Amino acid sequence: MESISSKKAFRSARAETLNTALQAPLENRYLGRPVGAGLLDYEIYLRTSELRSLQSSPSDLVVPDEMLFQVTHQSQELWLKLAAFESVTLVEAIDTDDLWAACETLKRQVLVMRNLEHELGVISTLSPEAFLVIRKFLGNGSGLQSPGYFELLLGAESCNEALHQLLERRAAKLRDVYESPSRYRDLHHICELFLDWDAGFQLWLTAHFSLVRRTLGIDRTVKALDGFPTVALGPRTTKPLFPALWEIRVEMSRVWTREGGPTPGARPRSPSEGRAPSHPSVVASPLVACDEDSASGVRTGFRNRK
Ligand code: HEM
Repeated sequence: MESISSKKAFRSARAETLNTALQAPLENRYLGRPVGAGLLDYEIYLRTSELRSLQSSPSDLVVPDEMLFQVTHQSQELWLKLAAFESVTLVEAIDTDDLWAACETLKRQVLVMRNLEHELGVISTLSPEAFLVIRKFLGNGSGLQSPGYFELLLGAESCNEALHQLLERRAAKLRDVYESPSRYRDLHHICELFLDWDAGFQLWLTAHFSLVRRTLGIDRTVKALDGFPTVALGPRTTKPLFPALWEIRVEMSRVWTREGGPTPGARPRSPSEGRAPSHPSVVASPLVACDEDSASGVRTGFRNRK
């Protein structure tokens, strides 16, 4: 990788002193020993010397924000690795009908997803200008080369298989579970935790989409280094890990009917048809439906009648 090694010139003597101090082991006066030399049990167990050498040294950073870029990506890889690892535990728990253990792991997966999402908030402070400098040094690197991401997808696929086999073992269709949650309480709970995991995963992808929008821009003319147009990232944010769990909602709503009213979206045959029964105390609302893209910018689909 090309590097423009330039020693940063500090405008503050204190900043320069601090920067120099951070490059060497620090004396820990409680322990009476230096930390950062890689000799303490904590450092040996966690291999902190190796870990902390995985980022460019301050003098090699192409812009100061490259540290944020590297730390965030490396940290995300570790959390994705953990999520994939936990999938093995989850598959085993489901396959052996240990549903309490499965719930515990699923809860952890949900929190890992939340963590991945929140972490992207930090890198969202990266300016497009700084990113475009870093970008020159990324070769043809792209998110589609992330090992953690592909491990996570593989892990989720295997968990999905295990879940569907569990349903088969119980002779329960997903539709049964969702139509009679109290009859299939444990299965319903597991399915909902899977859904939480998936929702968390999609929120992470949405945060990533927003990050790409802020740094690179989303447009069909803006391409990733491998030629992938950034505009194609949008629809991928809602691509689920466990499609059947989302589809079941659609299936249930599709066949839903209402006593004494039209099907949602059907054109009323008479002006009174389809209105909620009026109550004497209900006064006509001053709100009217409007187009989402209207100048009012109100996303609820309503605006005040002028
Ligand atoms: C400034 C920061 C970032 C930018 C500008 C960026 C940009 C992009 C772009 C343009 C893509 C489109 C596909 C491609 O690259 O070929 C992509 C995909 C991807 N990126 Fe990033 N990314 C950033 C940070 C991250 C981080 C921190 C991660 C965490 C591992 C990540 C993971 C991914 C993944 C997994 C994909 C594939 C998504 C999918 O299949 O839908 N990216 N990224």
